[in-house]
Amino acid sequence: MRKRFYYIIICLITSLSLFGFNLSDKNEDKAKAGKKEDHCITCHKEMENMPKDFSENNVHLHANLTCASCHGGDPNSADQESAMNPAKGFIGIPKRKDIPKLCGKCHSNIDYMRTYQPRIATDQVEQYYTSMHGKKLLAGDENVAECTSCHTAHNIMPVKDPRSTVYKLNIPNTCNKCHGNTDMMKKYNLPGNPLEEYTKSVHGEALLKNKDLGAPACNDCHGNHGAMPPGITSISHVCGICHASNMEYFNSSKMAKVFQEQDFHGCEQCHGNHAIQKPNDNMIGDDKESKCNDCHSKGDAGFDASVKIKGLLVNLKNKYDDANAKYLEVKQKGMNDVEIGFLLQDAKQALIQSRTLIHTFDTAKVGTRTDDGIGISEKASVLAQKEIDEYYTRRNGFAAATFAFLIFAVALYFKIKEKNIKKKVG
Ligand code: HEC
Ligand code: HEC
Ligand code: HEC
Ligand code: HEC
Ligand code: HEC
Ligand code: HEC
Ligand code: HEC
Ligand code: HEC
Ligand code: HEC
Repeated sequence: MRKRFYYIIICLITSLSLFGFNLSDKNEDKAKAGKKEDHCITCHKEMENMPKDFSENNVHLHANLTCASCHGGDPNSADQESAMNPAKGFIGIPKRKDIPKLCGKCHSNIDYMRTYQPRIATDQVEQYYTSMHGKKLLAGDENVAECTSCHTAHNIMPVKDPRSTVYKLNIPNTCNKCHGNTDMMKKYNLPGNPLEEYTKSVHGEALLKNKDLGAPACNDCHGNHGAMPPGITSISHVCGICHASNMEYFNSSKMAKVFQEQDFHGCEQCHGNHAIQKPNDNMIGDDKESKCNDCHSKGDAGFDASVKIKGLLVNLKNKYDDANAKYLEVKQKGMNDVEIGFLLQDAKQALIQSRTLIHTFDTAKVGTRTDDGIGISEKASVLAQKEIDEYYTRRNGFAAATFAFLIFAVALYFKIKEKNIKKKVG
């Protein structure tokens, strides 16, 4: 009887404290927001009339904004008609063309946004209207992306959150909702397969397969809000954000000026855009795949430079390969490979840098670096050959010693045997 009494008391205390805890928690939230209960969300949940993409984790809910922050109306009223009254600013479902302005109400207001994040950008709407998307939306095209096409409306997360539709790894799929829609893209004469090509490119493999966040997603080349194809003159700058030396060499070359005058597409002219592959030495010289042959032919200065540069590269590559084969032999024979290893690292560096220096399209500049690399490779080869020779000398010495020892052992054996026979006979 007493036991039961205590049990009831404990239950009462626990439930009261739990209830009290909850209450104070809610009060705290409300105090932060300076608002009463959000009746919009309460009623919509009760009526099972929540928007399809709604998530409790969305950034606006976390910042204590209400449904009315975007839709207007009176969140303090529990009555549907008075809550959703146009007289109280209720706008219903915003039209697509009005959405940028709606988001911009807060996101273009620097004083307001700073109270949440001191360094958040407030130029999204302004940027947006410079993009093809923004221009077309203004002109009444409803197929193009507005803010919620890329961000959703009720599931917006901070950009750095891996669940965000604009988190780096998710961006290609977000753009592809429309850009992979071949029927839609046909109307604009745009190819409907950037993602397909991108996925197989060096960049797509690095980002999507190896999760290398340093590789570019669509927005790194096109911009986020100002999404545009990079203009012809800016392509090399876009690539140069990450490939700084290539850009620097290319821009200071004679060819860069001609490229601008003749509207060639910078890096894209030789490497493509969405399907960029790992380059190889056949892209230069007199090969069928040589990019130089797209514009140069036998007899002109560009063709000559192309063949010469190819020769320099092939020479260095062969010397490096020779040295490397010997290095592997030295390693396998267990001889001293340390210094050869260091030399080969330097030679490899020279090979990599020579391929970057191609972008000067200057035989002399490439030649200086390939000469370095050839010198180092030859030195490594000589050292490696020494170690290999040393190995055989030692091995021959060892064989001779073993042979001498064998002869000695056999001789000893017969000597002992002879003695034993003599003893028995004696
Ligand atoms: C008491 C219940 C209730 C409250 C409070 C309420 N709603 Fe609604 N709301 C509904 C119902 C039911 C519908 C769907 C039927 C309709 O359109 O009348 C709806 C529809 C909507 C729609 C879609 C309108 C359309 O044109 O299809 C939006 C947007 C919306 N509510 C936002 C709000 C916002 C913002 C608030 C708070 C300021 C709010 N609601 C408060 C019940 C409520
Ligand atoms: C950040 C601004 C924003 C907030 C906050 C917001 N909405 Fe919306 N809502 C939109 C926009 C923009 C659309 C139209 C585009 C769309 O449907 O994606 C929309 C569409 C809707 C629709 C019609 C489409 C559908 O999916 O059913 C309903 C209903 C709705 N909102 C209810 C709500 C409710 C309830 C809340 C509060 C929990 C809320 N919204 C909070 C911006 C917002
Ligand atoms: C074509 C897709 C696209 C459209 C349309 C778009 N955004 Fe974005 N938005 C992005 C991407 C991608 C990022 C992430 C950038 C990054 O990685 O830093 C982003 C980031 C943001 C951020 C975070 C802060 C910042 O600027 O990096 C805000 C806020 C934002 N967008 C608001 C908007 C608003 C408001 C609109 C409509 C005017 C809009 N976005 C339209 C793709 C888009
Ligand atoms: C009533 C003001 C208001 C409106 C309207 C509004 N936002 Fe926001 N939004 C905010 C605030 C405040 C934050 C920052 C929350 C925080 O960091 O705690 C935010 C954050 C964001 C972020 C995350 C930025 C980050 O940190 O990475 C994105 C993206 C975003 N909003 C997009 C939108 C889009 C798209 C719309 C229109 C559909 C919209 N917002 C409408 C106030 C608003
Ligand atoms: C809601 C659908 C939609 C989404 C999502 C979308 N786009 Fe678009 N985009 C379009 C449409 C439609 C056009 C065609 C406009 C035109 O050219 O007239 C376009 C045009 C473009 C163009 C200009 C092409 C040209 O030369 O005309 C670029 C670049 C672009 N989008 C990049 C992106 C990127 C990058 C993303 C993702 C961050 C993205 N888009 C997300 C629908 C979308
Ligand atoms: C490495 C940089 C880079 C990446 C990553 C990239 N693009 Fe592009 N994109 C370009 C360049 C360069 C052009 C061509 C510009 C020109 O020649 O005028 C282009 C062109 C476009 C066009 C215009 C149509 C065309 O083919 O000429 C669209 C649309 C587009 N890209 C969408 C995307 C989408 C979607 C993604 C992500 C899946 C993406 N891009 C990724 C660089 C890139
Ligand atoms: C956001 C940074 C970034 C941008 C912008 C970028 N790249 Fe890259 N790129 C990378 C990274 C990282 C790799 C290395 C991928 C790997 O192999 O892991 C790479 C690899 C490459 C390679 C292969 C190099 C090799 O030795 O295998 C080429 C070629 C290339 N990029 C060309 C371009 C061109 C052309 C553009 C512009 C249209 C461009 N990139 C824009 C980051 C970038
Ligand atoms: C006229 C053709 C041409 C142009 C223009 C061009 N490249 Fe190259 N690129 C090549 C060739 C050829 C190679 C070397 C292939 C090899 O031998 O492996 C190469 C190699 C590369 C590599 C791999 C080697 C390295 O440097 O790591 C990258 C990255 C690269 N290019 C980026 C760019 C960028 C960025 C631009 C624009 C600023 C650009 N390229 C412009 C022809 C070109
Ligand atoms: C898209 C066309 C195009 C491609 C591809 C191209 N070039 Fe050129 N290049 C030109 C034009 C145009 C000129 C200026 C006219 C001329 O001298 O032939 C030029 C000039 C040159 C020059 C300067 C010649 C002089 O007069 O001093 C060199 C060197 C050169 N190119 C090397 C190369 C090499 C090497 C490649 C391949 C990696 C290459 N080019 C690929 C178009 C191209």
